[in-house]
Amino acid sequence: MNPRPADEESSRRRSLPEPVTAVTDTAGDWLPARMAEVEAGLLEAVQGDSELAEDAIRTLNAGGKRMRPMLVLLCAGPEAGAAAVRAGIAVELIHMASLVHDDVLDRAPLRRGLPTVYASSGRGRATALGDRLFSTAFKVLVEGGDAAAVTEVSATAVDLARGELKQREGAFDMDLTETDYFDRCALKTGRLFEAACVLGRASTGGEEAPVGLFGHRIGLAFQLLDDVLDIAGPPERTGKARGTDLLDGTVTLPLIFAARFDPALAALDMRSLDEASAAIACDRIEATGALDEVRNQAIELIEEAKAGLIEVGLEPQQRELLELIADGVVQRYS
Ligand code: FPP
Ligand code: MG
Repeated sequence: MNPRPADEESSRRRSLPEPVTAVTDTAGDWLPARMAEVEAGLLEAVQGDSELAEDAIRTLNAGGKRMRPMLVLLCAGPEAGAAAVRAGIAVELIHMASLVHDDVLDRAPLRRGLPTVYASSGRGRATALGDRLFSTAFKVLVEGGDAAAVTEVSATAVDLARGELKQREGAFDMDLTETDYFDRCALKTGRLFEAACVLGRASTGGEEAPVGLFGHRIGLAFQLLDDVLDIAGPPERTGKARGTDLLDGTVTLPLIFAARFDPALAALDMRSLDEASAAIACDRIEATGALDEVRNQAIELIEEAKAGLIEVGLEPQQRELLELIADGVVQRYS
């Protein structure tokens, strides 16, 4: 697989947040080289004569941070080979598919500062594109002949769908508990981060469970921060509309916490919200201090994730890089 041209690579790099570029810079040559193979593999996987190729390439180039393939490679370490590259391609394709489908379900106008495929090409094409990306992930793995990776990724995809279903079931339910929230986040976000780490470690041997737990924890922290950013914005930095969760009835931890302090929020009828009243509700949530509390929980999860990496047989540099990427999860706006 050929790496991308240098100018394309440098423009992609400019769009990445600082913590992500810090990881590639610290790693030395092996990580950018393997990441370029993942990038080339992603492009190859979505190209073709299908009428969906244009939307697929736009989705691929929409500014994703590639955190999950990076986790695969970091957990594999400098010996990362073709199996890790394939796993990186597969997890990113599953991630992209889940976002394209998520935007259909949420009727989301914007992602990463650009119109979603749903908004620009319609529900039908977005659904078909998500299906295509999803099935291509399995094609890539099957071509590599790695049955264990197929098993891990299919179990992960089932969990993602279970998480999304849980979110639908709990929509508009102001009685949702903190435990319900964390169970949902573990499935819809933690699981794919966990799989990325497990697949990477499995590709070069070594114990999978500790890095799996690391992935689970940073995945939860990622979702906590995502839910803070949905309330706090600003849209110019997050690339997404503010208050989307409230508008589609998704009860998140900031709202659960804020409702304990603000009786008006506890009595909120989410079904009656429009854009203007959702913006007011976002301000009220922020005024309770709930966002700081959720941010602190995310930081705690990151600290636990990092502490769990001690004495699990990782190379010192591998651990240092995983710590850097973990910090990046809570130091981001998009
Ligand atoms: C984004 O989270 C969405 C997810 C993490 C998972 C969505 C899962 C599905 C649509 C079902 C499974 C699909 C496949 C193809 C396996 P969010 O909605 O909290 O964040 P956002 O603000 O970025 O939309
Ligand atoms: Mg969403």
